[in-house]
Amino acid sequence: MPAGIHAGGALVEVPEHLLKRSRDRRKDLGAATDDEPAAEIPPSETAAAPAVAQTQAPAAMAASSLPELPELEPEPEPQPEPVKPWIQAALTRKKIPVWAVPVLIFLPFWAIIFAGTLESPERDSEIISMGREVYEGVGGCAGCHGAEGGGGVGPALSDGEVMATFNDWEDHVIWVINGSPAEPGTLYGDNDEVSLGAANGMPAFGEDLNAREILAVVYFERVELGGANEADLHDLEELFEAEEVVPEELNFQIGQTFPSTLRGLLASAGIGAG
Ligand code: HEC
Repeated sequence: MPAGIHAGGALVEVPEHLLKRSRDRRKDLGAATDDEPAAEIPPSETAAAPAVAQTQAPAAMAASSLPELPELEPEPEPQPEPVKPWIQAALTRKKIPVWAVPVLIFLPFWAIIFAGTLESPERDSEIISMGREVYEGVGGCAGCHGAEGGGGVGPALSDGEVMATFNDWEDHVIWVINGSPAEPGTLYGDNDEVSLGAANGMPAFGEDLNAREILAVVYFERVELGGANEADLHDLEELFEAEEVVPEELNFQIGQTFPSTLRGLLASAGIGAG
């Protein structure tokens, strides 16, 4: 013990720890032999001494070992330090950079939007798409007038033909509602076309198509087939869009005084007052 305390003067930490251990040991062994603990202490102290020597030694050794480290380091050095930051970045970088992820996610949407902008001039308005549906589908117009309006059983509508017959879109609408006049040989249109008559001529569509479909197909025939200027059909388009005035369930009546009916609808929609 005295030796321990003596050593403790120099080493505050180690003895306290070792003393506890030796105290416990002694308790475990019982006070049977007083000599043995004493005999044990020296080993622990001798063990502590080398430990101290070791803890101090590294500091001292470090100085002596430093010359060795520089010799070792020059070899590892070329690996981390000569590697340029951008090369290092390339090595540690993920295959898809973080910034590219949102770009890649957005890419398909962009493609769709871009494709949409390319197509939009062709299938722009609702009136055109509905008109096309009627012309090629439910109205069956294409069957008699040709897919492109070039004519067939019915006369050609393209290349301004339909405009020559019906300069006013309202007359065009009235024609589609009513179909050919009953008597063959009756003159119709602005250019006095000779009608085949109801039996062999143009069917009336006032019942089969609703008002919106007729407005749409007339718009389609004039703009897409006849080559009309859309600006000249502003009133027609507006009337089509005035759904409270021309609801889906509205049908034009065959045999009605159509011009007044159309004028009445335009007036209620507040279109082209004069
Ligand atoms: C069964 C055949 C047939 C169908 C279907 C048909 N048409 Fe006609 N269409 C004719 C015939 C025939 C004439 C000529 C009328 C006449 O001689 O009286 C005509 C004339 C016209 C004209 C006047 C053209 C001109 O220059 O004389 C227009 C406009 C027209 N049709 C539009 C339509 C629309 C719109 C549809 C569909 C909703 C349609 N047609 C469906 C046979 C048809």
